[in-house]
Amino acid sequence: MSSFKFTPENEIKFQEYVSRYPIIDSVMLPALWLVQEQIGWVSPEAMVYVADRIGKTPIQVYEVATFYTMFNLKPIGKYHIELCKTLSCMLNGSKELKKHIKDTLGLEPGQTSADGMFTFSEVECQGACGDAPMIALNNVYHGKLTKESLDKIIWECKKWLLEL
Ligand code: FES
Repeated sequence: MSSFKFTPENEIKFQEYVSRYPIIDSVMLPALWLVQEQIGWVSPEAMVYVADRIGKTPIQVYEVATFYTMFNLKPIGKYHIELCKTLSCMLNGSKELKKHIKDTLGLEPGQTSADGMFTFSEVECQGACGDAPMIALNNVYHGKLTKESLDKIIWECKKWLLEL
């Protein structure tokens, strides 16, 4: 028995997905997204839960969850910085931004700050190459970044938390 359970709101969304797709296998990806929206990552317990809900084995869900890099397989910080490392972004300064994140937040890709505030990941092209170099911050894109504009974005995150 899994300790994870969809919230009532997400249960309604899950039921909508089930009614939308003629093949239950197709519900696996949106169900995993719902999990990630709910708890910020896809925990082993949640994989077991999803498997049970769609009649699959946990290993089948694990295979899908680990194939797609957009699923977080461990808890992440309040703010998730995803820096694109693919060609356009690389040619326009993503390596410098990566070093800047290391210098200012002390984070390498895959790491979360000790206070749980920031997680830093490097990702492949996010389809916003015209705005290179870019990051997604909690799934919101920020493009044409410089070290200064990135600092400003990070400061806004910190400021918002300080005002709580
Ligand atoms: Fe970075 Fe496409 S190369 S968004």
